[in-house]
Amino acid sequence: MKNLKDVFISAKEKCTLCNVCVECNGVVCKGKIPGPGGKGSGSSFIRNSLKLKDVKVVMNLINDFSEVDTSTTLFNHNVDLPVYAAPIAGIKNNFGVEISDKDYNSMMLKGCDMANTIGFTGDGISIDMFTLPVDEIDNLKGHGICTIKPWVTQGTKPRIDYMNNKNVLALATDIDSAGLAHLRNSEVKVEIKSVQALKELKDSIQVPLIVKGIMSVKAAMCALQAGADAIVVSNHGGRCLDESLSAIEVLHDIAIAVDGRMTILVDGGFRTGGDVFKALALGANGVLIGRPITISAIGDGANGVHLYLNKIKDELADTMMMCGCNCINDINYDCIKVIN
Ligand SMILES: Cc1cc2nc3c(=O)[nH]c(=O)nc-3n(C[C@H](O)[C@H](O)[C@H](O)COP(=O)(O)O)c2cc1C
Repeated sequence: MKNLKDVFISAKEKCTLCNVCVECNGVVCKGKIPGPGGKGSGSSFIRNSLKLKDVKVVMNLINDFSEVDTSTTLFNHNVDLPVYAAPIAGIKNNFGVEISDKDYNSMMLKGCDMANTIGFTGDGISIDMFTLPVDEIDNLKGHGICTIKPWVTQGTKPRIDYMNNKNVLALATDIDSAGLAHLRNSEVKVEIKSVQALKELKDSIQVPLIVKGIMSVKAAMCALQAGADAIVVSNHGGRCLDESLSAIEVLHDIAIAVDGRMTILVDGGFRTGGDVFKALALGANGVLIGRPITISAIGDGANGVHLYLNKIKDELADTMMMCGCNCINDINYDCIKVIN
């Protein structure tokens, strides 16, 4: 397919559990889990989208450049834009499509590679949900980041042993999955992690550790103490706790406290290059996008993901140009205004 509109039409025809809304904001799918929605009332997913609208960008048009550069690095790996595919697992159960997680991750990682950026893979109750995506990353010369759930040792050890023999850019752990009911009640369970447990995880790997699911300054400082290389400011797309704050509204305080000592990524409701710009201005180094990238892959595989990421890159470049930012490092707090 040549344009994103056709990709989304194709996805809408295939998905039986996701409505593929024009605006992916958690309203139509509220409470739909299994499904793509937010937990309970759905308010945490909805708030992620709403609060982004309270951040406005500041135009700044007298400058001496005409081209902008959206490229940056993640753990010394060059990328064309500071935007990454978020880990999404359980494609069949959550979107109602006949696509295995293995095939989804293969398409998603390839689409990210075509856009010269990086995708994160997910995890689930069956160990295959971790290892098969790790194989896909390994096949792609390590151009991907795998994510492990906060399992008890019985679940963590075999996954880490497997990953340590493969080529991956980094390991993430979504500590907020301790709030997912089906994983709390599974045979091998998830648990709340201590600083010591995260330190042990960090010591057991040779690649950077990213702690995903940080929503307070206190938690960010604990991740730092544990030796994390990066955090993802995230409420898991509103799926692990109802009535949570949104990621965008806690980002700036966390960025000030971290003060450059870890890489800061953020996710939850980001849908345009303008949204990405807002996150960078509030102190993030990069943004993860979840559901729309999955929908793009369902619609047209790796090509759909590539088209979607190109849309985000073009919008980011346009916003940078209009706000007087020549490169990613030029984007700062003066480029936005929080109105509420
Ligand atoms: C169906 C579904 C499955 C997900 N699976 C995972 C997962 O396995 N690991 C993880 O860290 N996050 C997972 N997430 C959370 C996403 O990585 C991400 O934090 C969130 O979707 C970002 O918000 P967005 O979709 O609004 O962009 C999942 C989210 C959804 C909707």
